[in-house]
Amino acid sequence: MRDHKRIGILTSGGDCAGLNAVIRAVTRCAIKSYGWEVFGICKATHGLMARPPQAMELTVSKVDPFLTMGGTFLGTTNKGDPFAFPMPDSTLADRSAEIIEGYHQLNLDALIGIGGDGSLAILRKLAQKGGINLVGIPKTIDNDVDMTERSIGFDTAVNIATEAIDRLHFTAASHSRVMILEVMGRDAGHIALNAGIAGGANIIMIPEIPYKLEKICEQIKARQTRGRDYSIAVVSEAVCTEFGDPIQKGHFADCRLGGIGQYLAEQITKLSGAETRVTVLGHTQRGGTSSPLDRILAAAFGVAAVELIAQDKYDYMVAWQDRSVQAVPIAEAIKNYFSVDPQGTLVKTARGLGICFGD
Ligand code: F6P
Repeated sequence: MRDHKRIGILTSGGDCAGLNAVIRAVTRCAIKSYGWEVFGICKATHGLMARPPQAMELTVSKVDPFLTMGGTFLGTTNKGDPFAFPMPDSTLADRSAEIIEGYHQLNLDALIGIGGDGSLAILRKLAQKGGINLVGIPKTIDNDVDMTERSIGFDTAVNIATEAIDRLHFTAASHSRVMILEVMGRDAGHIALNAGIAGGANIIMIPEIPYKLEKICEQIKARQTRGRDYSIAVVSEAVCTEFGDPIQKGHFADCRLGGIGQYLAEQITKLSGAETRVTVLGHTQRGGTSSPLDRILAAAFGVAAVELIAQDKYDYMVAWQDRSVQAVPIAEAIKNYFSVDPQGTLVKTARGLGICFGD
């Protein structure tokens, strides 16, 4: 292994705030501390599938202006598993060999993959098959990557959801309404739980805690009895109907979570008579400039990932644990997803504040 390295970096899966800050941190550390070359790969593994491979050399002056910018200037995709890639004729093809060849054509010594659990699993499979020296950096607003307390993008999403709750309080109180805020998070309720506590919600509904509509309506009525004739409910997109049926939009491959807020509004109005409105935050939670905490995490993860490559330590993901950055085997990080612990501190905190989970 030569001392001078050429490293690649790509962003994969859904975008989130803080990705550009990670790319900047990696580039600055690799160039300033080690004098290496850094190549940004476009549109995740699609850039490696293209011929010639789509990549751009990154310099400090090129990446610096992106620090506060949302999205990822390299582009990304959350579609198309390269091992079963959807082709124009509707068949699925294994295109992993093309990606691996693309990596080697760029003559890279290592690859930094910034992704959630799904992307990291695919990148690891490619790395194992094709001798790619992979280091992972966890990112996702869902915060569901295991072995790390935080992933890039989560804090910003919580800030955005909290700001929405702050705003909903006033309009809810003015009109004596129940306001339902539907947030993202896939199968994990971290965004709803954190924003709900921070924003002073009265009801938090997460996939990890089954609920009864009756209990939700009791909370709304109890507040009305106390003279608080409005309520704020934060609901995670993956919460099911009371009978356990998922609510989704679209069909087949394009099937996405969403719509539980509207379902709940109709049920709550029917059962309690309360006037109810729904706000679906959607992709605003992923967009815009990143919070200071996400930028700090991005800096720490970016530098730590470069340090792992300097030590030729591969197949690891950088993780935030116990107030510092640690290296954990990617295999461990993708084994399980990190969901909300119904017995954990934050759920206890919310209950202590009188927040209702509907159970
Ligand atoms: O995983 C991140 C996430 O934003 C989820 O919270 C959400 O369910 C999903 O991606 C939305 O995906 P898309 O951008 O394809 O609509």
